[in-house]
Amino acid sequence: MQHIIQQLEEKRAGARLGGGQKRIDSQHAKGKLTARERIEALLDEGSFEEYDMFVEHDCHDFGMSEQKTPGDGVVTGHGEINGRSVFIFSQDFTVFGGSLSAAHARKICKVMDQAMKVGAPVIGLNDSGGARIQEGVASLAGYADVFQRNVMASGVVPQISTIMGPCAGGAVYSPSMTDFIFMVQDSSYMFVTGPEVVKTVTNEVVTAEELGGAITHTSKSGVADKAFENDMEALRQLRRFMGFLPSSNREKPPVRPTDDSADRQEMSLDSLVPPNPNKPYDIKELIHKVVDEGEFFEVQPDNAGNIVVGFGRFEGHPVGIVANQPMVLAGCLDIASSIKAARFVRFCDAFNIPLVTFVDVPGFLPGTAQEYGGIIKHGAKLLYAYAEATVPKVTIITRKAYGGAYDVMASKHLRGDVNYAWPTAEIAVMGPKGAVEIIFRADKDDPEKLAEREQEYREKFANPFVAGSLGFLDDVIMPHNTRRRICGSLKLLRTKKLENPWKKHGNIPL
Ligand code: HXC
Repeated sequence: MQHIIQQLEEKRAGARLGGGQKRIDSQHAKGKLTARERIEALLDEGSFEEYDMFVEHDCHDFGMSEQKTPGDGVVTGHGEINGRSVFIFSQDFTVFGGSLSAAHARKICKVMDQAMKVGAPVIGLNDSGGARIQEGVASLAGYADVFQRNVMASGVVPQISTIMGPCAGGAVYSPSMTDFIFMVQDSSYMFVTGPEVVKTVTNEVVTAEELGGAITHTSKSGVADKAFENDMEALRQLRRFMGFLPSSNREKPPVRPTDDSADRQEMSLDSLVPPNPNKPYDIKELIHKVVDEGEFFEVQPDNAGNIVVGFGRFEGHPVGIVANQPMVLAGCLDIASSIKAARFVRFCDAFNIPLVTFVDVPGFLPGTAQEYGGIIKHGAKLLYAYAEATVPKVTIITRKAYGGAYDVMASKHLRGDVNYAWPTAEIAVMGPKGAVEIIFRADKDDPEKLAEREQEYREKFANPFVAGSLGFLDDVIMPHNTRRRICGSLKLLRTKKLENPWKKHGNIPL
């Protein structure tokens, strides 16, 4: 018996070494943690239960029979984050560069299948050179098995990817179908084809960082949701992030006790909106001042800054916040911001997270770049997402709500449950200047008359009362009471029931 136990311990020790000490040292030298160290840092202490530690690949080509490592380049299992179950896979770059063999794929599929049965999130810590080249089509098949599960799990359990090393080829498509992608600065890359292939095919010379580094994907492509300084910070923030999400679509998000009173007034909000309607102000100041303890987890902070999205809490209950940002492009909607917000709204709706929307939007961004780029379809994504959402929707118009963008931003007409406006709200088809230039074209050469018309228009529409008189707003509220009114509305809406008609699936404009 002693001998068998010793054998088991030796096997475990071998598996824990992955690709060997030399490669572990090289991983550390790059400032990266190993697959196991990452799991340890992410999960509650002692909660990790590993699966398939002794799984090996079954490839015999290219001398692979002699190169077997227990676990085959991925550590899988389940554990807890703040006492709540999660399933996890962590790719081990020290074993064939974390590349995906058929056996490696089967391990990932096993935890995904269990996560679906149990109703718990799947977290991927990705560090992989893509398909295991020696295995050929068997590896591609393995990827497809993972992809299929990503799609089946979408909207059922949250799926989060943290990119912690180079991820090439197939290694990027699975993360792309998960709900959120986080990256580590300077050590993680995502690309379908690497710099060498790019050079061969297009003659472009580009570094891995420029092609698919964290800055590229968080600010240019919008593929990634947030970048963190190093592995430890990414894992620490991931723990915090998971606290906003329910374990599955069968549950409500977790409630966290708070001492922040629902009645807290914030007098400084009464002067947040500047008297000059063309002057910007920071919508994040409003968000931070109304959510519990000022805690806001912003998603995609470096992409499409004209819209702000992220998670906060009211009376301990998580919400998704969407807000136009007057500091960037005057807060107008464009292609990038519509895509960013639409995906966020759909995530919240899929996972029973109420939506709080702050509106200050002068309209859609005009121009050929936008029209040629398909703003009609992309803008419609956000419209579609809000219209489809059945979770509680609370909307506050702080200033401008013009044109189609008024409709889009969780208006009453898209089944907004509670729609408020601040006294500074301006709700109309367009801003006063543009409006009078069109409807009083005959006066175009008479600046005095035009100014008079503009003033007349402003008095009529640059306020919340026309919309209020039509019942499109439920109330005009004092800015300092915003937190109290949101808390009250969300409390009321906790028992909201609304279902969309049965369909196989809708056809969102992609
Ligand atoms: C097998 C691989 C591998 C792979 C890396 N390795 N990628 N082994 N299959 N895909 C091995 C290396 O041979 C090496 O082994 C070890 O991992 C570390 O790799 P290095 O190249 O030394 O590391 P580094 O310089 O950091 O570069 C990392 C890398 C590079 C950028 C990921 O290795 C690379 O470009 N790999 C190939 C990427 C790729 O083209 N993948 C296939 C994509 S096609 P030793 O023994 O020396 O330590 C694909 C199709 C799927 O994925 C499509 C589905 C839709």
